[in-house]
Order: sequence, then structure tokens, then C-alpha cells
Amino acid sequence: MKALILAGGSGTRLRPLTHTASKQLVPIANKPILFYGLEAIAECGIHEVGVVVGHTALEVQAAVGDGSEFGLQVTYLSQDAPRGLAHAVLIAREFLGDDDFVMYLGDNFLVGGIAEIVEGFATREASTAAGILLARVPDPRKFGVAEVSPDGTVLRLVEKPDIPPSDLALVGVYLFDRRIHDAVSQIAPSARGELEITDAISHLISMGYGVKSSMVDGYWKDLGDPEALLDGNRIALMAIRSSIMGEVVDSKVEGLVRIEAGARIVDSIVRGPAVIGRDVSLQSSYVGPFSAIGDRCTITSSEIVNSIILSDSQVDNVGSLEGSVIGKFAMIGHRTERPRATKLVVGDHARVELL
Ligand code: G1P
Repeated sequence: MKALILAGGSGTRLRPLTHTASKQLVPIANKPILFYGLEAIAECGIHEVGVVVGHTALEVQAAVGDGSEFGLQVTYLSQDAPRGLAHAVLIAREFLGDDDFVMYLGDNFLVGGIAEIVEGFATREASTAAGILLARVPDPRKFGVAEVSPDGTVLRLVEKPDIPPSDLALVGVYLFDRRIHDAVSQIAPSARGELEITDAISHLISMGYGVKSSMVDGYWKDLGDPEALLDGNRIALMAIRSSIMGEVVDSKVEGLVRIEAGARIVDSIVRGPAVIGRDVSLQSSYVGPFSAIGDRCTITSSEIVNSIILSDSQVDNVGSLEGSVIGKFAMIGHRTERPRATKLVVGDHARVELL
């Protein structure tokens, strides 16, 4: 069994963070989304992993390396443009050989691992060529949607339908055997110009092969937009282990809190679940529940709740920030000079909501 993890794509809904960075490397609870997937793959005993990369290849390679930190052996497969999930399988043909594999979308966050479904697939009937995971969602139009029989056999799949046949969304974890290779070579690009894995799986069904589904029983989210990211961050933070490696001076630390080495908390309150990265300076501030403060940030005289702040940013005297996602090397401060106007230098596709 091998794994194919997708870390390409353009991440348009996470702009401006993804103008310069890979969406799969955006952190939740200070850990890149992609790492949760790699850990889930390693946990089920898979070693050989193909990581499909696009224009952010260098950044992904720098973060994941040869995979040995995860107990994996990583091969990078380059996709020239976001041409779809089935296209990723197409370019991975040589790497995958004739082995069974799990395909894992690098922007999907799944709690509880995938060991059980991987084991289930290994003991499938010969006619079963694929396994998919499903979750009930309030708005299925944003996903691939399945129609299944009571025993979980998939009858029909449609990608982002206007009128969904059910509320069962396709989760970004798929199991395939070598029969998928023929299917991905038979399909044509969809209306959005991509080779859809949903169409390739539908092709398997039309060939008479079995496609089995199971329901995710834990939390799942495609972390494709800021609201989803904050939601995933909240869930990831609830699973951290408390540890205080930094220095805490004249401050209160309450609840589930991780403070990394080199961080200095002075005259502040940190109320978990929250993580404070390495070498962070927190001065006369409040970091409240569901906040993740990236490495080397400096926070002074401010309050931050339910927010993600990426590394190397500064927040100074801004009152209270809530539900915010702030990129790397950002500076958010309070203007003291005249004119007393709001001064903004924000990147393309940024979103600022003023009081
Ligand atoms: C892709 C799949 C879709 C699936 C989703 C899960 O969508 O095409 O079927 O439900 O991932 O995250 P995309 O993220 O490419 O829009």
C-alpha cells in the first residue's frame, strides 16, 4: 500500500495567505495542515508516499523534506498546473505502479486517522475497486456528492451539483487499486477544466466495479477558506498537550496551553486552548481560547481570541482581535500620529473588517 498526498493547487479561497504560500502549509494549532495528513498516513503503517506539488513545490519540499521525520519515504511528483485530482493520479502512474494506494488531499483535516478504512480496503472483495469516505454536510453543493445504497455501495457520484442527490459529501480521502489508472485515462476535463476524481470513480461504477463508502465518525473539514481554517484550528487546539517551555513572568496561564521554548509571557493572561510559538514575546496582553500564535510573533497591549497568527508578525496596541487570520511578517498597530485615520497596507484579496 502506498499513499498519494496532494499538496498542489492554488488555494484561491485562502488568499491572500496563499498568494505566496502553499495552502497545505497554513498551520492550525501551529502545525501545517499537511503534517496532520502525513501523520495519519504514517500511523497506518504506510511508508512510501508520493507528494504531488505545484507552484509551491519548493516550500513544500523545505517543510516535509525526505519525510523521515514522519517515518515516511517521500517522492515528489510535480504537477505543472492545478489540472484536477484525477490528473494527479495520472502523473503518479509510475510511482504508484500496480499497488493499492490511499489518496489524501493535503488541505483536508480529519480527526481520528484513517487506519481503519485502510485496513478495511485491504480485505475487500475482489470486485471492489475503490473506497471513499463520506460526511453529512449542510451545503453539499460545494463538494462531490454521493448517492449510496443502504449497505454503503456507491450508486452515483456528482461533483459540486446544483441540486445535490443527498447531503453526503466526498471527504478528501480515497482508496484505490490499479483499476483507477484506466479510469483516469478515460475521462475528459470537467466544466472547471479539471480531471475530476469523482468522474474517474463514476467511470469505475459504470464498468461494473464496486465502490464502497464509509461514513467519517470524527471531525472532518476541507480547510479551504478562513472560516473553515478557524474551525479546524479550534478542533486541533482541543487536542494539544499542555506544556510550558517558555518563560512566564507576572502572568496567568489557564486551561490547555502550550507555550514553546524561548517564548516570554510578561504581565499577560493566556487562556486555553491556545498555543504560543517559539520565541514569541507577549507583553501586557490577553491571548484567549482558540488562538494560535506563530513563532517569533510580538504581541503587546492587545487581546487576541479565536484567531490564527502566522509566524513573525507583530500586533501592537490594537484592542481586541477576534476570528482573525493574519499572515506572516504582518504588522498590526495603533496609529498615534496625525491624521488619526486608519492606515492600511494590505495585500491583494485581503479582508479587513473595521469597527
Ligand atoms: C475536492 C473534490 C470533491 C471533494 C473535496 C473534499 O474538491 O473534487 O469531490 O468533496 O475535494 O475536500 P476541491 O477541493 O477540488 O474543490
